[in-house]
Amino acid sequence: MMDWGMQNRLASIIKPKSRRCVMLAVDHGYFQGPTSGLERPGETVAPLLEHADALMVTRGVLRNTIDANVNIPIVLRVSGGTSILKEDLSDEELTVSMEDAIRLNVSAMALSIFVGSSHEKQTLSNLAKLCDRGQKYGIPTLAVTAVGKEMVRDARYLGLACRIAAELGAQIVKTYYCEGFEKIVNGCPVPVVIAGGKKIAERDALKLAHDAVSAGAAGVDMGRNIFQSQWPVPMIRGVRAIVHEGKTDAEAWDMVQSLIG
Ligand code: R5P
Repeated sequence: MMDWGMQNRLASIIKPKSRRCVMLAVDHGYFQGPTSGLERPGETVAPLLEHADALMVTRGVLRNTIDANVNIPIVLRVSGGTSILKEDLSDEELTVSMEDAIRLNVSAMALSIFVGSSHEKQTLSNLAKLCDRGQKYGIPTLAVTAVGKEMVRDARYLGLACRIAAELGAQIVKTYYCEGFEKIVNGCPVPVVIAGGKKIAERDALKLAHDAVSAGAAGVDMGRNIFQSQWPVPMIRGVRAIVHEGKTDAEAWDMVQSLIG
């Protein structure tokens, strides 16, 4: 039986009515610096928040750029320690204490695992520690299956990474969409959401979201395909229509176009 606080926090992110979520990811700066579209993250996210179920962010951006009066569940990025200047991004540590996560009133904590990388054990051990700490205070953990350049993003690899994340205690897993995504969902006992990945054409991003939820994803944790779009609000609204209202990508694209128009 899940603890009340844990269940309540999860329900604030994955909406009980649709059992799905639209999470807006803006944590990219934790290793990429001022990512295109996130130079002034507070301004970027302000018009998007009312259309998101949760915001994935670092504590620095949260404290300095997001209005504390806003009503949005926070999924706090709590791993890091690397930068794009290094070849190997897998050498991550936990970067936020439980006390600070609680002080920030977060609804979940997110960290990356790098299965098959040179720091596989370290990142999996970080996940296990974080799940223990989160369990103590009723705060869910979202595990991000980060993929090194040398890894193939196929259902076999991503299914392995997602299942390991769930086995170690993650309450939500974020991964990439791929062919055979149903297998990943089938083999993972906790909700799986997809990252959007690099910016692609708006129409294709909507198809990606639709393919993912059709294959069993609990929604999206999408960043660049929303905030790097020329039409970020129509895009998040289109994605939302797919995730929560069962619209097809074609219907969502019509909606996006009429919002743009
Ligand atoms: C990696 O930088 C972060 O975990 C992002 O939150 C994640 O990749 C999702 O963002 P995007 O949709 O831009 O891939």
